[in-house]
Amino acid sequence: MTAILEGVVDRPFIPTEYVVRLARTPWECAGYHALRREVFCREQHVFTEDDRDAIDDVAIPIIAACCMAGMPDRVVGAVRIHEAEPGIWRGSRLAVHEDHRKLGRIGAELIRMAVSTAHGLGATRFLAQVQEQNVLFFRRLHWKSLGVVTLHGLPHHDMEADLSRYPAHGLDQIWLLRPQPRIRQVA
Ligand SMILES: CC(C)(COP(=O)(O)OP(=O)(O)OC[C@H]1O[C@@H](n2cnc3c(N)ncnc32)[C@H](O)[C@@H]1OP(=O)(O)O)[C@@H](O)C(=O)NCCC(=O)NCCS
Repeated sequence: MTAILEGVVDRPFIPTEYVVRLARTPWECAGYHALRREVFCREQHVFTEDDRDAIDDVAIPIIAACCMAGMPDRVVGAVRIHEAEPGIWRGSRLAVHEDHRKLGRIGAELIRMAVSTAHGLGATRFLAQVQEQNVLFFRRLHWKSLGVVTLHGLPHHDMEADLSRYPAHGLDQIWLLRPQPRIRQVA
């Protein structure tokens, strides 16, 4: 028994199952705003107290939640989308809780849900203003830079998604299983 637990006790628990979906219930909406405050106010200091703005009145909120026993348990990812002009949709406030980053493509799946949902709602273009350190991340997900802008005093790129890579859908949610850590095979 002791041998089985060796090296395991200090390892943080990391869920294997996530769901990415349109936020509808009060706990999902509360978790969505709490995560945005955590990331954009406390971690990045882009805003002081709260990051809400007028776009929240019209935006569709999307969350990623980690699951316990198959049930969504805690909000660990967020993004919002809105139609800025007819046919022109924008995504913003993309955030993944720091304990869940670079784990199971949660950020990438939030982007997929955001763009494919907007595409399904009639988007002909999908744009976002992306912090400079994330430009490569978006390029790998089939976005191109349209130029550099300064936003909240920080360098950003205006970026556009290649909609042909994001088929339109009207799904409410997608499930995501975190890939298990690779085990190195010794020959
Ligand atoms: C940017 C952010 C949303 C990425 O979320 P994430 O869940 O860690 O991303 P994923 O796990 O889906 O990453 C997918 C791939 O991109 C890579 N990647 C992640 N962030 C990256 C970055 N900034 N630059 C380059 N590659 C990156 C991952 O390593 C992964 O690579 P792999 O497929 O080879 O394993 C997250 O780091 C975050 O919330 N940051 C703080 C808030 C922020 O910067 N928001 C964006 C404002 S524009």
